[in-house]
Amino acid sequence: MLWFGQKKNTNIPSQVHPKEKYKDPGFSSNTYGIDLGTCNIKIYNAATDKILVQKNIIAIQNKKTMIAYGNEAYEMYEKAPSNIRVSYPIGSGVIADINNMELLLKSFTKDEQGGTLRPADFYVAVPTDVTEVERRAFYDLVKDAGVKARNILAVEKAIADGLGLGIDVKNSQGVMIVDVGYDTTEISILSLGGIVLSRLIKVGGHAFDTAIVSAVRREYNLVIGMKTAESVRVSFGDISHNGGVATVYGRDIVTGLPMERSLTHDFVSGVLKENFRTIVDNIKVILERTPPELSADIYRHGLFLTGGASQEEGLADRIHEEVKLDVNAAESPVNTVALGLAQVIKKSQYRTLAYTIEGLGK
Ligand SMILES: Nc1ncnc2c1ncn2[C@@H]1O[C@H](COP(=O)(O)OP(=O)(O)OP(=O)(O)O)[C@@H](O)[C@H]1O
Ligand SMILES: [Mg+2]
Repeated sequence: MLWFGQKKNTNIPSQVHPKEKYKDPGFSSNTYGIDLGTCNIKIYNAATDKILVQKNIIAIQNKKTMIAYGNEAYEMYEKAPSNIRVSYPIGSGVIADINNMELLLKSFTKDEQGGTLRPADFYVAVPTDVTEVERRAFYDLVKDAGVKARNILAVEKAIADGLGLGIDVKNSQGVMIVDVGYDTTEISILSLGGIVLSRLIKVGGHAFDTAIVSAVRREYNLVIGMKTAESVRVSFGDISHNGGVATVYGRDIVTGLPMERSLTHDFVSGVLKENFRTIVDNIKVILERTPPELSADIYRHGLFLTGGASQEEGLADRIHEEVKLDVNAAESPVNTVALGLAQVIKKSQYRTLAYTIEGLGK
């Protein structure tokens, strides 16, 4: 665990042992843990004990034929001709395009099984702060995707995050988790294996990219793509990047011609301030609503920060400064939920954290 903050926290909640190679015979090896992220799909495969991470994107030609999926489809994003539609089927953390999500899930699962689908069990991470219908859609997706699902179980995403961070969530009290993903940030308080509070807000890497694209357009009359915006902000977080300047290429609005421009680190961090504020404000709201006994535990442990976009340069420091809590940053922020699902699948003591959602929202 990496630490942000003045005092090193020695009082983290009881830890599981991530490297422990304990295999419980109570699960079939043809079992998958699925984290359907807006940007990345993560699939834990119990047979290989590995996590597949691919872009959760599909490319459809002439409205009917899938021509690429995952990272290959992402290569076409913002570059494809008008008869090829490259899209993300998950939006704001929920399933927005069920047909294409089914197609994607089937394709990835089939690849994981070497091309032939066999009856399998699925553990799916679901967000807490969404409607019952939206939660049920995760179950329906796996049931209807044609993946030969035998058992479909749900695990609250924040619970999986906690386990993936190495926290023994069943025996820990007052744990705050902030998962900053692509379309969403989920802020949750866990205690004794349950969720006390959870709030899903529509801020994450996507909002960061959009803010950069709009600011560059406004300030420099330059149109840049979302991928460019992302690579600029990620490059500023890379310690090997020096000089405090990134070059971007785009189209000049006035002349219509391609052009390049240098963006400074100060410009980009100024642009992201507002999004950071939204995250900080929502963390504060959740803390205000937390029962006092749990607040005391959270104060002792600090908060746990995960999700790909939690790595955004300056975010952890900003949270630490404003919320006055130690910030424990995940070692594998993109994979945390999937690592937690792996714990639920592999360890009998965590299996009760998974539940069946059949009948939910009916
Ligand atoms: N080093 C980095 N610095 C900043 N941002 C990063 C870095 N690495 C990845 N990201 C961002 O992380 C985001 C993807 O994270 P993640 O996979 O956790 O999202 P997701 O689970 O698909 O989304 P959501 O949880 O909102 O549905 C992208 O916006 C990406 O730009
Ligand atoms: Mg996510």
